Amino acid sequence: MNITLKELITSFTKSIDLYNYLLKNHHRRTAIAAYHIGVQMGLSAERLSDLIIAASLHDIGALTISERDSLIQMDVENPFPHSSLGSYMLSSFSPFEKISRIIFYHHWHYDLDNTYVPELGPVPLESYILHVADRTDILVQPDYSILAQKQKIITKMQSYRGNVFHPEVIDAYLAQAQKDSFWLDIDNWDMETILGLGICDRYEITLTMDLLEEFALTLSKIIDSRSKFAISHSFGVSQVAYTIAKRMDYSQENCQKIRVAGLLHDIGKIAIATELIEKKEQLSETERADIRTHAYFTYLILGHISGLEGIVEWASGHHENHDGSGYPMNLADVGISQEMDIVSYADIYTALSEDRPYRPGMTTDRIIQILQDEFSSKHGEPVLQVILNNLDEIDMICKASVQVGISRFHCYQKLAEVQEQSIKGRVNR
Ligand SMILES: [Fe+2]
Ligand SMILES: [Fe+2]
Ligand SMILES: [Fe+2]
Repeated sequence: MNITLKELITSFTKSIDLYNYLLKNHHRRTAIAAYHIGVQMGLSAERLSDLIIAASLHDIGALTISERDSLIQMDVENPFPHSSLGSYMLSSFSPFEKISRIIFYHHWHYDLDNTYVPELGPVPLESYILHVADRTDILVQPDYSILAQKQKIITKMQSYRGNVFHPEVIDAYLAQAQKDSFWLDIDNWDMETILGLGICDRYEITLTMDLLEEFALTLSKIIDSRSKFAISHSFGVSQVAYTIAKRMDYSQENCQKIRVAGLLHDIGKIAIATELIEKKEQLSETERADIRTHAYFTYLILGHISGLEGIVEWASGHHENHDGSGYPMNLADVGISQEMDIVSYADIYTALSEDRPYRPGMTTDRIIQILQDEFSSKHGEPVLQVILNNLDEIDMICKASVQVGISRFHCYQKLAEVQEQSIKGRVNR
């Protein structure tokens, strides 16, 4: 593949920050503050790089508006679900092992066990830096001169030195935060600037298909975790699409690309409120229109990355129809490839088999009936025929994917519980 890991991480992180409906700019601003503190503390290029990426993604596990609202209070009541989930999402991408750990502890207080927690492992210094950067941005009032607020924020942050915040991190912060440029950088640097400064040479490696898939799997969790009804939807779509492609004798490389497209097809949902995705009542026309934008955002996010040709079209085209009634490009017959049909059928098959807030998952017979009656004119006969010929296998793969989702869910919940219990135990001792 003609793309480096550095380009992939830069592109994704930048676009996730741009389109994430909950966290617009907070990740970017926190990363800039963290960078300046990290430089002041003399972190190596490698540690600085991990710190910047961790800061650029740190609240990715916050799923709802109410959770986001709780995070913008100075004292977050229970930050563990989002820090555990964020950390868990990123842990499956091997280059992000350290980043995942930094995120896990990004609300940890210094006056607990401050370097090592027996039941959870070591606390990285970078987590304390991220915490200070994060709370600094939370204290900034938008639409009001940042320099006029500077001294008040510094005084407040300083008052937590040694209890909430690591004393050495606060000392480094004080050295940086006295400068106007620290605050003006937070306001003015864009994501590309900060990532360009921070992402070091070890990411300058050519991306392999396997590494791309590992990253896609990580990103798919960001979307799948947002709905308990679709806890393994993207994963299921990728597995079903791969199976269909295999049965259609696509080359191994193309089968794998189709699997990646399945993992990423709904990544544009990052731009849509979870409350809307989870809504039980019937959606209004405006709400349906809002949900429809996700296919466009999938295109926008993936389209920035050179080297993903094919995957971009197959992923973002999963709601296009042969009769021209689909979105976002209103393509018709000639514009729709068979790979797009494969992802579309895999999406519908998986979705119909899953429980939804307003209906239970459907039986295989019912799914087939719907595919034949409502979707064969939209996505063509050839792919449908392959599904019918391999029904047992596809059905089994679909059900197994749901189990993977459920066990993932239990795993991160357990982590959040352990983190919460261990903090409570320390506070009360
Ligand atoms: Fe957070
Ligand atoms: Fe945050
Ligand atoms: Fe979709």
